[in-house]
Amino acid sequence: MFEELESVKNKCLTCTLCELSKTRTNVVFSDGIPNNKLVLVGEAPGYWEDVKGKPFVGRAGQLLDKIFASVGLSRERDVYICNTIKCRPPNNRNPLPEEKASCRYFLDTQLEILKPKIILICGSVALNSLLPDARGITSVRGKWFEGKYGKMMPIFHPSYLLRNDSREKGSPKWLMWQDIKEVKRVYDDLN
Ligand code: URA
Repeated sequence: MFEELESVKNKCLTCTLCELSKTRTNVVFSDGIPNNKLVLVGEAPGYWEDVKGKPFVGRAGQLLDKIFASVGLSRERDVYICNTIKCRPPNNRNPLPEEKASCRYFLDTQLEILKPKIILICGSVALNSLLPDARGITSVRGKWFEGKYGKMMPIFHPSYLLRNDSREKGSPKWLMWQDIKEVKRVYDDLN
């Protein structure tokens, strides 16, 4: 598993399939621990991810780490993290369909190697890629879908939570808390 991932990563690091290769500082392939249980797929690298070459290391990433920590999970031990596309779109605009299409091979290969029993689909860009026929993220977050390798659950993107401060019952943060607890419940059942 590790060697296969290294080999796709090396391919990805020199990829020039789309225009984003001209503006990126670093390719952002993955972080966390390769495993067949829990994988999170986000949207695209932002400013800090591009600088550091790692996914979810900016403010949204720090919140994501706290969300995982709240149920005893961590990227160092339990979760493999990657994005729908591996290079930062200028000014953090949404990835274009052709960028998603040319990068798709890398995401598909990561998932094919890992065959994760749980995939967390983080935010609407990832939702569009992995479950294109699903309704919007607000309708489907917290619901389980059957995927090629196991279960998939769409969850809110942490940057959406950063824009919505409330922790009241029914708020995005509160809903995320319900979702991550459900994820942990199913994750524990895998063991
Ligand atoms: N948002 C994402 O979706 N992915 C990252 O890596 C960082 C921010």
